[in-house]
Formats: sequence, structure tokens, C-alpha cells
Amino acid sequence: MRVLILDSKSEVEKTVAACIADRVMRQPDCVLGLATGSSLVPVYAHLVSQAKAAKLSFADVKTFNLDEYLGLTPDHPLSFAAYMREQLFSHLDFNEEYTRLPSCLHARDAESVANRYETSIRAIGGIDLQLLGIGENGHIGFNEPYSSLSSRTRVKTLCEATLQRNSALENTDRLPSAALTVGIGTILDAREIVVIACGENKASAIAAAIQGPVRARCPASVLQLHQRVTYVLDPDAASQLDDAEYFYEVMRNELSLRSDYPVPGPLRTSTDTRLKTDGGRF
Ligand code: GLP
Repeated sequence: MRVLILDSKSEVEKTVAACIADRVMRQPDCVLGLATGSSLVPVYAHLVSQAKAAKLSFADVKTFNLDEYLGLTPDHPLSFAAYMREQLFSHLDFNEEYTRLPSCLHARDAESVANRYETSIRAIGGIDLQLLGIGENGHIGFNEPYSSLSSRTRVKTLCEATLQRNSALENTDRLPSAALTVGIGTILDAREIVVIACGENKASAIAAAIQGPVRARCPASVLQLHQRVTYVLDPDAASQLDDAEYFYEVMRNELSLRSDYPVPGPLRTSTDTRLKTDGGRF
């Protein structure tokens, strides 16, 4: 597990965008696992400008989103499909046929939609890079607390707190109370995972995920079992970590080993700046 604590929210967002751009540059036909939520809106905006500046093509990239509200058509304004079009897909040369979400209109079809989604992910060879946000209760995707840690794509009922927060963000009281979400087992199958978290409201979930026991009460804690997971945090989200100094120290050591450590290019630059301007804290 790598934990990067960067100077500001905007540095976090740019860095996560750079990780995605870097992956697409190195592997133009990669499979991305994408997430929604307010944390990802600026990430996608940075990704669009970074990709345009680098003339990066997404035509061969395949994407699978984590989740979608049950019962919303892809053109419904509150759907994650609409979010993805608005924030990302419509701005770059994504091939629509390669962008998937677990959309399902009727609960009776959910099981077959979920099984097909799992099959499609496997058939394409699995997810290369999975992007994750984290809920205040430690959820990933829509895997709420006490989800099975080996779960697969299925319908989940949303917690009241999640519904209230997402409704407030969307300024609506009409969000469905259930969603299709990829499972925790599905997420763990990804070859690489990047988690973004900013803000004090995420601090306790981040502490539970990174330093707490692995337990279903905090679904993100299971990421401790993954071989290649990177948390990219701002100081507020990292504020309840007991070992923040240790993570700063590891970041410094990573930089001194940079020739044999696969840190994406733009990340090196931003962390270098931090070293120059803020060397004393390392
Ligand atoms: C939503 C999504 C998650 C997301 C989380 C955090 O419920 N299903 O994938 O990570 O909430 O959202 P935000 O970034 O708005 O805090």
C-alpha cells in the first residue's frame, strides 16, 4: 500500500488525473475501472485538459464504471451514465461502445445484468487500473458497510446517510434507494487501484481503511489485501492517520529510488516541487 499525502486538494486531483493519463499513454488499449462522486469531477476536468494538451487518444480505452442507480435510464440526468458523459466521455474521443455501466431498469433483470457485467469484465481480461473514491462510512463503489468482502456485481440497498449525502450533492430528493454495484471481490481483481480522498469528512474513513483492521464494517479496509493500491490524500483526509510522518518518510525514500520505482511522470514533478519547497517536513 502506498500512501501519498500531497499539499492540497488540487494537487491530489491533478496527480490522480496524471496517473490515468500516464496509464493510457503507456497502454493505449487499457481497461479502466471508473468511479463517480464529487471527488472525481475535478479529476476528470484535469484529465480532459492533460489529455488534450498531450493529444492523447482514448479511442481504444475500455471503461467499466463501478455502479449505477437501479431504475435510471442512461439518459436520466441523475444517472451515473449522464455524469460520465458530462464530466468525461463527451470531452475526449472515447468509443461509446467501449464505455460500460451496470445500467438496469427493473429489479427483476438485475441478476442477469450483474452477471453479464462480471462476464464482460473477465472476457476483456480484467481491469488494469481501478479508480476509487471513498464514502464517509468507508464504502467503495456502492458496497456499503457489511458488504461481503468477496462480493460480486449485484444490487445493494443504499444506507440512509449515503442517500442523504448524494441527494444533497445532486440537489434532489428523488434518487433511487438501490443501485447495481461491482462487488468488493470484483474491485480486488483489478491489477492496480488508486483511491482519492480529500477533506476532513473523509479522515475517519481513511484512518479506518488504512490503519484499521480489515473488516466488513469498513469495506475500504479490504484494500490492505491488494498488492498494488495507492491512496492519494490531501492533509485533511490524512489528518487522523497515526503514522502520517512515516508516509512522508516513505515518499522521500521513493524519490531517492525513483529510477527503479514506477511513479508516473507528472507525480514525480509535483512531489519534487514539494521536496524543494517543503523539504523540512520529510
Ligand atoms: C458515491 C459513489 C462512490 C464514491 C462515494 C464518494 O456514493 N458510489 O463511488 O466514491 O460516493 O463520493 P464523493 O466523492 O462525492 O465524496
